[in-house]
Amino acid sequence: MKSLRISRRIFLKWLSGLSGFSAAFFWFKGTQRTLELKAPDIVTINPHALNDGISFMDSIIVNKNQKTVKIFSARCTHLGCKITTEQNGKLICPCHGSQFTFSGQVEKGPAVKPLKTLPYSVDKNSGEMTVYVS
Ligand code: FES
Repeated sequence: MKSLRISRRIFLKWLSGLSGFSAAFFWFKGTQRTLELKAPDIVTINPHALNDGISFMDSIIVNKNQKTVKIFSARCTHLGCKITTEQNGKLICPCHGSQFTFSGQVEKGPAVKPLKTLPYSVDKNSGEMTVYVS
């Protein structure tokens, strides 16, 4: 029976090639994940279809009155629970009871930071707003 023998030099070349390929693969995967995390979600809303006051729309909270529209992230700034409730003129976090005013300011902790105001753009023709949720 014939045995397969390779020299040490060839083995080390093969090993370094494999290491380089592995490093490139994991670098590429890491880069892909970073790009995925940085891409903002986009929510499109038609402010004319909303009533005045607070509207909860999945990951955003819209505060609309006749003159202005303010848009906040629905993520509580304490530990990130989704805020879905309005009670007695306050936005209430269901997890630990933080309360926020309709302008996003902390009224009662444990949260200490205001709700994140989200950037948006307005389509001049349709009036639709594109909100960038990050
Ligand atoms: Fe909202 Fe804790 S996550 S109060």
